[in-house]
Amino acid sequence: MADKKDLDFTYTTIDQIFRLSIGETGDYSGAKYDGDFSMTLEQAQRAKHVFIADSLHITKGSKVLDMACGWAPFTRYIVEERGATSIGLTLSQGQAEACQKNGFNVQVKDCRYVKPDDFGTFDAIVCIGGLEHFCSVEDWQAGRQEEIYRNFFQTVYDLLNDGGRFYMQTMTFSKNMVDFKDLDINAEKGSAAHVCALMVEEFPGSWLPYGPEMVIRNAAPKFNLISQSSGRLDYIETIGQWRRKFRKFNLKKYLLYLKLAGRYITDPGFRSQVEVFKVSPNRVCFEKEIMDHFRLVFEKV
Ligand SMILES: C[S@@+](CC[C@H](N)C(=O)[O-])C[C@H]1O[C@@H](n2cnc3c(N)ncnc32)[C@H](O)[C@@H]1O
Repeated sequence: MADKKDLDFTYTTIDQIFRLSIGETGDYSGAKYDGDFSMTLEQAQRAKHVFIADSLHITKGSKVLDMACGWAPFTRYIVEERGATSIGLTLSQGQAEACQKNGFNVQVKDCRYVKPDDFGTFDAIVCIGGLEHFCSVEDWQAGRQEEIYRNFFQTVYDLLNDGGRFYMQTMTFSKNMVDFKDLDINAEKGSAAHVCALMVEEFPGSWLPYGPEMVIRNAAPKFNLISQSSGRLDYIETIGQWRRKFRKFNLKKYLLYLKLAGRYITDPGFRSQVEVFKVSPNRVCFEKEIMDHFRLVFEKV
């Protein structure tokens, strides 16, 4: 599993740059274009929020847990536009501080270990782009992946009120995933072996489920699957839009890039992380169908 140090590496490092590029409460997960790429990124992220809130029946007064909340885009939507209450959890210190400064109830806490004693129970729970971080390469190698997912669904089950719904959005491996032993950071740039190795560097402590089937079977029998859809093509568009926004000139942001340049020279791990600004491993993985991306709506049985 990715711990706080890993997630600070991935998210706190880019906290200010992210907010200057994508917005104070920007989404760092695939948007919902449904194939209509004439939409702006902001419109497609909003369409995602509407879809999730409708699927989970979130209305005025609903109590919602936003697991792995990032910079709190979904929390913001349901609090400001649906009149719900929300608690957001992240393991990135930078994200939590930014969210608190923006007035949202967000805490640094590992969402996999929340108990009803912590915050009570909820009408709805979401986990958008969090599952990717719950199982590490080492966990997978030790055969613990399915157990980790089962335990996670037990946690969600205990936290949901009867009949409550849970939304999960996650990347998965797909039909063209290569053998782990073939991953190689020095392989030909852009090849499957290279981009998968880059992904491992970019997201330390993280490994993906093998298809949505793996997630769904570990949710059963405690959850019924209400709906499932692939967001792979929408994610390719999302990443393209992010990259444009990350590059767009802003003096403060470019000074921050400059500040990180020293670390680039001295820290090889960070160097690999910066590689993702040159080639997006996630985008290549989606394009080559090494990875897919799923939106899953569950209901507590
Ligand atoms: C890809 S971002 C998605 C953020 C947000 N849901 C969104 O859609 O913009 C992944 C988030 O998962 C959080 N995360 C990963 N593992 C976590 C854990 N065990 N407990 C709480 N948050 C976690 C990270 O801190 C980060 O905020």
